[in-house]
Amino acid sequence: MYKINEDYLKLPGSYLFSTIGKKTAAYKEKHPDKDLVRMGIGDVTQPLAPAIIEALHKAVDEMGSPETFHGYAPDLGYEFLRNAIVKNDYQARGCDIAADEIFVSDGAKCDCGNIQEIFSKDNKIAVCDPVYPVYVDTNVMAGRTGTYDAVKETWSDVIYMPCTAENNFSPELPEKTPDIIYLCYPNNPTGGAITKDALQVWVDYANKVGAVIIYDAAYEAYISEENVPHSIYECEGARGCAIEIRSFSKNAGFTGVRLGFTVIPKDLEVNGTKLHALWARRHGTKYNGAPYIIQKAGEAVYSAEGKEQLKKQVAYYMNNAAYVREGLKDAGYEVYGGVNAPYIWMKTTNNMTSWEFFDYLLENANVIGTPGSGFGPSGEGYFRLTAFGTYENAVEALKRIRAL
Ligand code: MLT
Repeated sequence: MYKINEDYLKLPGSYLFSTIGKKTAAYKEKHPDKDLVRMGIGDVTQPLAPAIIEALHKAVDEMGSPETFHGYAPDLGYEFLRNAIVKNDYQARGCDIAADEIFVSDGAKCDCGNIQEIFSKDNKIAVCDPVYPVYVDTNVMAGRTGTYDAVKETWSDVIYMPCTAENNFSPELPEKTPDIIYLCYPNNPTGGAITKDALQVWVDYANKVGAVIIYDAAYEAYISEENVPHSIYECEGARGCAIEIRSFSKNAGFTGVRLGFTVIPKDLEVNGTKLHALWARRHGTKYNGAPYIIQKAGEAVYSAEGKEQLKKQVAYYMNNAAYVREGLKDAGYEVYGGVNAPYIWMKTTNNMTSWEFFDYLLENANVIGTPGSGFGPSGEGYFRLTAFGTYENAVEALKRIRAL
């Protein structure tokens, strides 16, 4: 008889955003007349920029004639897109990354989840706490995390690096030595950022202990301050220890379009094996590439018009972030983030747990956010609001929260 992967059974509850979705749907069913303001999942709301729509239309037309039709995409992604990425995301920032070190995919979430496959099961992972749940959950599925402590909400074989107001949401180097370190900057969920000097410390540490950093830079377009790196490859030595994962979801509104990429420098090797070769093997075997049409849309993100239009889109969301951040502060809340990232991270009030605060806001203000504890035990007592909604919704949410 067949057997299942029992590691899946170890996962407590459902995926965080599915749980929120279910709770919201249950509330809506009970109160169909209530108008909910959704600031939970970090999903974009602004339409695709005109330059992207134009590229999509053009690419669709190309698919309709034999001369310009495209079938399977090349393994790593189309060169036109990888060249645009290298030029704009890396060379423009002084990073030494080549086009054949880029693997185009259908999004950062899949890459964040799948990348662990190329590492041995007995590697020890270190994560920030709170953290984007995909990193931990996919390692649980792979059987890499040991046993779950339901009281502490931690896994025995995971190194947690607490990020709280006390350490300004910047993790200390871990006491136990990890093999794989997950870092996400600008940070989801805390909305914090890291300076180049602080990131250099991580790169030096990883190179010293022989660890690999999986660097999730999905929110880099939201950086507004100087000396905050847009890529880990701005740090010296990062080619030898870091994989970087990028998304088109947040900078260009591709959450429903799907496009991302992973950078694996060819210097990254252990005992003579290049991680690039392993990921290329995995990519070739399990993946047939993001559609031509979508990669063409991705190319338009780097056109002069695309850049200009997307700058405005990012500014729109960051204006929401500033509005919510300052409004909550004014109303007496303890608030973090929202300067280099589209997330507001706030303390709950009256010692409410994160989930109690979720219910409180849902029932009394009809505002939906994300409970901090859903991202890890150190997120307990915090709450996340996304700035990816409309400005009108941000205004409405704040009005309702102020009235509580
Ligand atoms: C979030 O809300 O944390 C993000 O939308 C999740 C994601 O990008 O997959």
